[in-house]
Formats: sequence, C-alpha cells, structure tokens
Amino acid sequence: MTTDLTTALADVRTLLLDTPNLSRAVAAGRRKGLQPPAAERVEVRPVRLKDGPHLQFTARTGPVVSTRNVPVGEAGEAVDELLAQAYGNLHVETATEVVQVRITKKGDAQVHRAPARHEAGPGAHDRAKQRLVDPDDPVFRVLGAGGDKRRQVEAFVRQLAPLAPAVLSGGGDRVRAVDLGCGNAYLTFAAHRWLSGAARERGKDLVTVGVDVREDVVATGRRAAAEAGLPGLEFAVGSIAGAEPFGDARPDVVMALHACDTATDEALARAVRWGAPLVLAAPCCHRDVQRQLHENRAPLVRHAILRERFADVLTDALRSLLLQVLGYRVEVVEFIDSAHTPRNAMIRAVRAGAPRGSRTAGLLAEYDELTRAWGVEPALARMLTAELAQARQAAL
Ligand SMILES: C[S@@+](CC[C@H](N)C(=O)[O-])C[C@H]1O[C@@H](n2cnc3c(N)ncnc32)[C@H](O)[C@@H]1O
Repeated sequence: MTTDLTTALADVRTLLLDTPNLSRAVAAGRRKGLQPPAAERVEVRPVRLKDGPHLQFTARTGPVVSTRNVPVGEAGEAVDELLAQAYGNLHVETATEVVQVRITKKGDAQVHRAPARHEAGPGAHDRAKQRLVDPDDPVFRVLGAGGDKRRQVEAFVRQLAPLAPAVLSGGGDRVRAVDLGCGNAYLTFAAHRWLSGAARERGKDLVTVGVDVREDVVATGRRAAAEAGLPGLEFAVGSIAGAEPFGDARPDVVMALHACDTATDEALARAVRWGAPLVLAAPCCHRDVQRQLHENRAPLVRHAILRERFADVLTDALRSLLLQVLGYRVEVVEFIDSAHTPRNAMIRAVRAGAPRGSRTAGLLAEYDELTRAWGVEPALARMLTAELAQARQAAL
C-alpha cells in the first residue's frame, strides 16, 4: 500500500514507542538526493536495564558500532531524530506484526504489513507445536521480556532439550536446575516450564532456582512465580561464587545466560566444583581477558574493536580447554542468530569424567601455549587453581 510519508512515519513512531510490544526495528538504506543518515544502519530494541525499561539504539557504520540507551519515558525525541533522517527502509517487528516501509524516489511510503511469525496463518499451528517455549506465555509480559529475549530463551531451551534426557533419566526422583545470574528470570521461567514437563513425563519432580545478586530482580521473580502458580520454581539472592541453591545436593543442570564478564566464569567454576552433569552458558562481555590484552601491541589486538572481538574468542577458547581438562566434553556453538543478540555463542559442556592422562597433557599444552603467547591468565583458571593443579599432577 502506498501512503504519504508523514502518515507512515507517524505510524512507525507509534510502533517504536509501544515498547511492551516492540521486538526490534531497523532503519537502513538511504534516500537518493538527500543528506545521508548519520549511520548506515540503526537497530532499535527495547531493553530492561537496572534503572528500568529503555529503548536501545545501535548505530553501525562499517565496523564502527555505537550504542545508546534512552529511558522509555524520554525516547520520543530520540525516535523523532531517527525518523527525521533520510533512511530508505524501515523495518519494525512487534509481538503481532511485521511492518516494512520503503520510501520511494518520489518521497511516498510503500507500506507492507504482515502478521508476526507466531500469529495465525498457514502453518502457524505446526510452528507453534515445534516451539519449546510459548512466546505468548503471560509470564513474559509480567517480566517485561521483549521479542528478542523470548527468542533467546527459546533458542537456549532448544540447546538444552537434546542433552536433558541424560540427566532426567538418572537415579533419584528429583531433578535440580539452577540459572546463575538469572536477572529478570526469563530463562529461569522458560527452562523450568520445559524441564518440569520433561521431568514429569519420567515421573520426577523438578526444582529450579534462579540466583542473582540483585534483590529487586529476585523479588520480581518470586512474585511472578507465585502469580503463575509454578511449583518448584524458587529464587535466591546471592553471588554465583557462593551459591548453594540445593544445600548438600548438587545441581543436575547449570545454566547461565549473559552473566556479565567473569560472572560466566563464576558459573562455570561453580559447575565444575559441583560436578554438574550438564552445563549451558551463553557468555556476555569478556572484559577480563580484554583488559589483560590492553598493553599488547600485536596487530591482532591493537585496535579496540579487534581487541574486543579477539578477547571474546580467546576467552571462550580457554574456557573450553579448561572445562575439557577438568572432565567435560565441550562444544561451543552459536545458539541463536546474531540478529537477535550479538552475544550468541554458547558453551555446552557435558560431564564425561577426567580424560586420559595423555589427553589431559595435550589439552594442557594447548592451554599453556595460548596463555603464554598472549600473556593472559583467564578468570576461570584463577578460580579453579586447585583443580587445575590437581589435573596437571594427574597428567604427569
Ligand atoms: C546481563 S544480566 C542477564 C540476566 C539474565 N540471565 C538474562 O539473560 O536476561 C546479568 C545478571 O547477572 C547478575 N550478576 C552479575 N554478576 C553476578 C554475580 N557475581 N553473582 C550473582 N549475580 C550476578 C546481574 O545482577 C544481572 O542480573
């Protein structure tokens, strides 16, 4: 449908400011003959920060990326600034529809609207059947989860599902899962719903505990769990490093989604000490190794953006080696498309028992070579000094 540009932009403005329903939006391309926009592409998405809901604007021009978070109550001006620029295409995804606006040479707007993929339509039933997490679960609205977060937790649970049977079919009639650095608990709820169904099918009950250092998010999680009437879902305030969610019993499943910086290492170290059979961690920023590379002038890490990307890779490679040395079978995978989060790597670790001495020696040699070459000592190694020393001894 072709319409006048002012009307189309006003509609897009309304959609962008309806943050509870907005999943994401992208402004890209340029209109010929007009001043080019400040950035090649801007992605807008609702995010929940410590001090409340914000609209996040991520601007990209070539390799340069900048992010700005604006409190939702003040976002009107930032949205107006964005829409005033001469972008040629605007793409908006909400909970219910996908709106595509293309601005023609004449300055009209061609608007295409389609239902969101989970709405009714041909094949919708089959698609819904394949989902492990209901994106329309009212608890997501209570917790303020936007579309991307819902997709992330679906993708996370999808990684968990094929590995879970091994822990669900073990001895005992109770399965224990923990979400470390649970934040707003989107994953805690989604994983608990899915796992409790799978546990029930095997005649077991499930207890899931979300752990976070922030009292406010834990209080929200508790309230939402009580409202949703979900038995076996609990929350605990505390640091990951000191977490003992089940007293003397060890968790069967350890999860961490975007636990910041070394909080992911705390989660992995905790899982190793517990001897947790199944560990899924999607790391967040990797500042620890990045900081250690700061003085390094090697071309690979001389520029901040390259240093950041390389630190991500190096940190996860070292984490993977350490987990293998300490008795896990490890895979590092992309658990979701990067369009939904740039932090889309996941470490999947299944406890396999200590590797043969020669295998441990080989893994340790790889680990030592990498850490020596780059002059770093990753947080996970600092947290597991005793375990690592023991593995070195055993490999002699
Ligand atoms: C980026 S948020 C991610 C939250 C949630 N897992 C998600 O994906 O939506 C990281 C969370 O980890 C918590 N956190 C960070 N370090 C922690 C620590 N050492 N112990 C416990 N919680 C921690 C923060 O309070 C925050 O809620």
